[in-house]
Amino acid sequence: MTLAGRMFDLVVAANRLPVDRVGQGGIGWRRSPGGLVTAMEPVMAGRDGVWVGWAGESGPAPEPFTENGLHLHPVSLSPVEMREYYEGFSNGTLWPIYHDVMIPASFHRGWWNTYRTVNHRFAQAIVEVAAPGATVWVHDYHLQLVPGMVRALRPDVRIGWFNHIPFPPVELFAQLPWRRSLVEGVLGADFLGFQRTADAENFLRVCRRLLAMKTDSDTVTFTSPGEHPTVRTVRASAIPISVDFKGLDALARTPQVIARAAQIRACLGNPETLMLGVDRLDYTKGIRHRLKAYQELLQDKVITSPQVTLMQVALPSRENIDAYRQLGQEVDGTVRRINGKYSALDSAAVQYLHQSYPRPEMAAMFLAADVMLVTPLRDGMNLVAKEYVTCRHDLGGALVLSEFAGAWHEMHEAFICNPHDIEGLKQTIMGAITAAEDERRRRMKALRKRVADHDVQWWASLFFESLASAPLKPHRPTHASDRQQRGVERANSADQGASESASERSSH
Ligand code: F6P
Repeated sequence: MTLAGRMFDLVVAANRLPVDRVGQGGIGWRRSPGGLVTAMEPVMAGRDGVWVGWAGESGPAPEPFTENGLHLHPVSLSPVEMREYYEGFSNGTLWPIYHDVMIPASFHRGWWNTYRTVNHRFAQAIVEVAAPGATVWVHDYHLQLVPGMVRALRPDVRIGWFNHIPFPPVELFAQLPWRRSLVEGVLGADFLGFQRTADAENFLRVCRRLLAMKTDSDTVTFTSPGEHPTVRTVRASAIPISVDFKGLDALARTPQVIARAAQIRACLGNPETLMLGVDRLDYTKGIRHRLKAYQELLQDKVITSPQVTLMQVALPSRENIDAYRQLGQEVDGTVRRINGKYSALDSAAVQYLHQSYPRPEMAAMFLAADVMLVTPLRDGMNLVAKEYVTCRHDLGGALVLSEFAGAWHEMHEAFICNPHDIEGLKQTIMGAITAAEDERRRRMKALRKRVADHDVQWWASLFFESLASAPLKPHRPTHASDRQQRGVERANSADQGASESASERSSH
């Protein structure tokens, strides 16, 4: 079906489309990795909207098309843009800053320029397909300038932005030489959604402390820059993302998935305890810490393999970025060492799977695992935790969850750990392994109820409601206070300009 020329009342924009081209110049499409797609796919399935995003390979964008009932509008990225906008500014500058600077962030003016160019291309693509008065929902840190750019091009549309990853504390955000432009970019939206209250508060603090904007409770008053300034009030608030509980629960109840779960356990020699980790191979996910804890438990003979087996699925991710390649090598090495020392002839101590799997296979793995290890060092939400409990309709299994995952805020009945504390992590894992059946079932029941009550449709509805009730009318600054605020901002902006040039000079 051709979509050319069609306008939509709902436009979703995210860096990636829900599908990626298979292979360079490839022949087909496969599901894109990541939580954003997991969450947004079911949301879009019930709505006649269009999804604007990158098709996962460099070069000219394919024509708009429909795949599995979803209308998709691809945006092109050249090889240089992939390097500078996606791998560079998004994942080499913003990602580390937004994840506690676990690795140093790199600042390059060239990357920033390309980020602006690509954000502008997304904005253009959005306005091309947005019907008059449409709702535009922009996602994530890759597209922070898009709300402001769309507003400038099409003041008639209503714009929301949701950040899937943490929003950093002001002290870290302050490092960004382009901090003002990034904040002003997202403030082009009418409503801003964050995973945790702490993220929304960090954002409001940045507005207040760094940019001298006026905040009141969960709103910020923003006077737009330019010749004809307008004053708008923007709300920033927490709406934690979730999973398609009904769909996934139904999938996990199918006889095929149940049989496959038993088969997986049998393939692994029916261990007494099967532990599972499922992560993108990312340094934020705490895979190294998890393996260290497992290795020490084996070394201390607290557990033995194959009675206890760890299956680690590490989905390939961002493989052109040094830090990711290096992590991959370290994890490979650690797995080899553990297996060399602790595997039995017919079963590996760590089943390491470096590939992605279809949803039914993932559901079967979740159903097969006695202990699920979700131990990120920092994570916006972590939908794997919610997917695991969704699949456990049998009330079996135990979830070990890091207090640094956004999911922790809703999932206190999990076995909670601080993954930096290896001793503590080992104890928590043992607590989950040895917990009495009753206790596990009680915890799992509570966790499942929470996710069922707050599923992805709840999340999307709340986002749309918040966006619809956002204050509509911008006004010209007339009050003394508005003028005063602009005065402060201008003064601040001059300082900022000076410090931006200074930081830019220090960047390569
Ligand atoms: O949640 C953060 C995020 O960047 C999402 O946008 C995406 O779902 C996921 O991580 C996967 O990342 P990438 O698109 O870089 O493979």
